[in-house]
Order: sequence, then C-alpha cells, then structure tokens
Amino acid sequence: MTISNSVAPEALGLPSVHELEALAGQYLQDFDGSILEPDVCAEQTEALVTRGDTAVFGTAASKAAAVSGFDDFQKIADEAVRNDDAAYAGIVPNSSAVSEYTIPGFSEADALVRQSAGFNAPATASSWEVRSYAPVVVSKTEGLNQTSAAAQEKEVRELESTVGGQTGNRSIVVGSKTLEQIRQDFPILRETVNNHPLVWLDNGATTQRPQSVIDRLSYYYTHENSNVHRGAHTMAARSTDAYEDARKTVANFIGAPSSDNIVFVRGTTEAINLVAHAYVKPMLRPGDEIIVSLLEHHANIVPWQLVAGETGAVIKVIPVDADGQLNIGAYEKLFTPKTKFVSVTHVSNVLGTVTPVEELVAIAHAHGVRILIDGAQSIAHIPVNVSALDTDFFVFSGHKVYAPTGIGALYGKSDVLDQARPYHGGGNMIADVTFERTIYNPAPNKFEAGTGSIGDAVGLGAALNYLSSIGIHEIARYEHELVAYGMQELGRIKGLHLIGTAKNKSSALSFVMDGRDIHEIGKYLDGYGIAVRTGHHCAQPILRHYGLEGVVRPTLAIYNTFEDIDYLAKALRNLS
Ligand SMILES: Cc1ncc(COP(=O)(O)O)c(C=O)c1O
Repeated sequence: MTISNSVAPEALGLPSVHELEALAGQYLQDFDGSILEPDVCAEQTEALVTRGDTAVFGTAASKAAAVSGFDDFQKIADEAVRNDDAAYAGIVPNSSAVSEYTIPGFSEADALVRQSAGFNAPATASSWEVRSYAPVVVSKTEGLNQTSAAAQEKEVRELESTVGGQTGNRSIVVGSKTLEQIRQDFPILRETVNNHPLVWLDNGATTQRPQSVIDRLSYYYTHENSNVHRGAHTMAARSTDAYEDARKTVANFIGAPSSDNIVFVRGTTEAINLVAHAYVKPMLRPGDEIIVSLLEHHANIVPWQLVAGETGAVIKVIPVDADGQLNIGAYEKLFTPKTKFVSVTHVSNVLGTVTPVEELVAIAHAHGVRILIDGAQSIAHIPVNVSALDTDFFVFSGHKVYAPTGIGALYGKSDVLDQARPYHGGGNMIADVTFERTIYNPAPNKFEAGTGSIGDAVGLGAALNYLSSIGIHEIARYEHELVAYGMQELGRIKGLHLIGTAKNKSSALSFVMDGRDIHEIGKYLDGYGIAVRTGHHCAQPILRHYGLEGVVRPTLAIYNTFEDIDYLAKALRNLS
C-alpha cells in the first residue's frame, strides 16, 4: 500500500523529509523514501529500535504516524523517546518471552554450554557462578626442599649470572636488534627481586614497557597534554594529532583499512562488552545462539552470559582435544539457523594454544555469521592482518603489548560499526544534541563517549611503533623457538606436567607438579626473582576440563632469553 505524501510534515511541526532522511540515513544505510510505506516503515522502525537509535527511529516513527495516520507508529515513537528497552519490548510480539528467559533461561543455557563442552557435572546455574578463590596459606619456602639447599643456591647463583643478557644475548638477533639491545630497552629488567635479577615470566598478565613508551608518555604530558577534539587552541591540536596518530598506528599495525575502524577502549574486556551489548544483543531473540570456545578467558564468556541472560539466547561451546586444540569439526556442527555470533580467542591465555583463526572466520562467514577474535594474547606475539583475516571484530589490550594499562583497541569492519548502537552516551560521541533527540558522530567517535585515556593511547602507538621497528614477524619467530625450548626443558623435569601441548603454541608454559601446591611453587620462584602467575587465570572452564583449579603459568615475551628458561628449570628441578 502506498500512502499519499500530501501532508507536509513541516506543517505538522515535524522534521522535513530531508532532515529525516539525513538523520535516518546516518544509521540506516539503505534508508530511502520507502519509510512512508507503513509495512516498510514498521520493519525499518524495528530495525532502528533494535539498534537502539531511539531518537532517530522515534522521529521516523512520528513522521510515519503523521503522514500515514497510523496510531501505532506514534505509540512506538513516544515509547522510544521514553525508554529504549520499553520501546523494544513494545514492538517485539513475544516480548513476554524476553523477561521469561532472563533468569530461568540461564540454567537452560548453562545446560547446553556444559553439554556441548562435554562436562559431566550437573547443569546448575550455580556451576557458573563466580566463586571466591579460597585464600591460600603459602607454606614457608624453606620447607620445600631442605636437603641440599647450599648446593642448590650455588648452582642458582651460577645460572643467575647468565640471566640479564650478559652472555649469549648479544649474538641472538631479533629483527633489527640483538636480544641484549632489546633487554636494555626495558629498564625494569634491571630490577632485583629478593636479591636476584628480575626474571619477568608473567607476560600473559601484563608485559613490561620499553623506555620509548615511557619517554613518549613523559613527552606527551610535558608538551602535548590537553583534551582532544575540543577547543581551538594549539595544545588541543597537539593532543588531538598525537591521539589520532596513535589510532593510525594501531590501524597500520593490524592491517585495518582505515583508522576509522579503530575504537579506543580500556582493554579487551571493555571491547568485548561493547560488541556484546552494542552490536550483538540488539539482534538476539530467545533461543538464538552464540558460539564461544572452551579456551576462553572469562572476559569472553561473562559478557555473552549477560546478554544471553537478558535476551534468552544460549551459549554453545567449541570443545578442545587433549592437547588443547579446538575441534574444528565440532565447531562447524554447532552452527544452526539460530547462530547469531561467534567470539573466539586467538591464543589461549592458559594453554598458549594458537587457534586456527582463518578457518574459524571462514566457517562463520560460510554460515552468514559474524565473528570476533580476542587478540589479547596474540597481539604481542603473532603478526595480525585483520583485512586478510576478514574478521568482523578484533580486540586487544595495550598492556599486553608493552603499552600502558587502561587502553586497548577494538577493530570493527565499517558496516558492523555503523550498525552497532552506541555503548555509552555522553560528550565526544555526538554531532548534535537537543532534549528531543541526539545525532551521533560516526564511528569511531560514536563509541568513545567522554574523555578517554588520551596519553595512554599515545603510549599504545609508541609501543606498536617499537615492535614494528624490530619486526613482528621476527619477534614471532624468536618467541616460537623460545616456547619450543621452554616446553622441552620443563617437560624434562620429573613430576612436572605441562598443561597445553598444542602443536601451535605461543607464550604460555603452564604446568602443575606432583605433590606441590601451585601457590607454593609461585612463592618459591619469587624467592629467586622469577615472576610467574599461579591460579585459575580467569579461565576456569578450560582448567576444569583438565580437572584442575589452577596451574603455574610462566609466559614468555620478546625480552625473555634461553637463560631465563634454564634458570626457571633449574629452580623447578629443586622442587621435583
Ligand atoms: C585471552 C584474554 N582475553 C581477555 C583478557 C582480558 O584482558 P584485559 O583484562 O586487559 O581486559 C585477557 C587477560 O588476561 C586474556 O588473556
């Protein structure tokens, strides 16, 4: 049915067709004059509601109501202005199902998750609840091995003299630098801990910062500090240039087509929450499915549980084999017409498994499903080209790639960023605000409400420039050798069990030892200046798959040496 367009919207005090098209066009790329067609209008209005662009669709619906005389449109418009969620429920026919699913649906989703992950444990909602980790009483390190303490101490001292890059590290070349030069770039490596040189093997938790990043932060705060994008003064221009240069650096580092595809966020966790709430949640209906893997960090599980709980969607889990590799055949079988999104890690933070992201993306796309790759543990270790990979989203944290904490990046293809609703509202993300409606800036600003971590973004740019100046491909090659050596040396220690033996591994050398509490081991190693992480590493599902509640996790990075591994192995042999 075509509705006459004879009533001029302006005469009714409504926006003109041009204004409306300008508003709607920003959010609805295929918007055309057909908004005046009631059926199309209803459909497109729903699309806009779903995206949460309340002001725009509210305006569109008002206009449609005025022109068509359909009261329903006006109701939708009014509701939209009052409350996005209410409007959403108002036009979803089975809206009661949404609330019905929020809590009871949780245990159903949980059952499915556990079933597809091959768990035997009963499917109860509480099995996914956050559990507090029992405080660990660390036994005194002297109690660990008393027999030949003096001899061991002597051997450790000898080995220790090789840690810190004084011997072979001058002859190892990684890209444009020797390993010794790289180590010199990181001032914190000159620290001593418990009278031993620091051996930093907690890179999975956070990496150390090179002098160039520290200097860049200092330069920013000394010469460039200002808020960005606002104000006509020189300092605002300096900080904006520095901030936007950093965005370009991120785009180049991961092969993004444009810096407009890069949103600055606080880190991986915020990036995944943003995608879950701003892009995926609006498209979910009860029974829809989200695929993650058993390898995921809690940051790539909990946000999906939150949106699943709110919409009645369910989470399905890609299983892994005994070595910790994803079962790609099983992954493909998880897809159904209800699959709406896939979110998988590039590298497991516990097992170090490198997942076959090219296949994961291709299979998701073959089913018409969008995918996010969590690059938190890959960005510092593996070259990434998001364009070649064709992933829809790629996310990472700055602090895992030698940059400051509190900054990270979300890459999104242009179309998904356009479709996503804003995550936070506020300054910086708007083009125009009245009390009736807001026009948002396009991505990336649409997702950067408020004042971000400007100096840290600049620091992130400096960290990526540092890596590029060495060569990320060469870094990957060197670290690959280091991981292979670490697996070999730790694997030789009696009573030590490596957890995660995938063929393609990066960084992590997780293990447990017979008769030793993991926290005791961590404390013991700290006594020798070796920093490793112990615990569940925010990845309880994969650990429980192995029947464990925690592991000791040494994680390697660019400045670690073969001597670091010898030193670690020596210390661990004392415990075996
Ligand atoms: C694989 C993975 N994803 C996500 C995260 C969360 O990162 P962040 O705490 O920096 O947001 C981590 C952190 O360890 C991780 O290892």
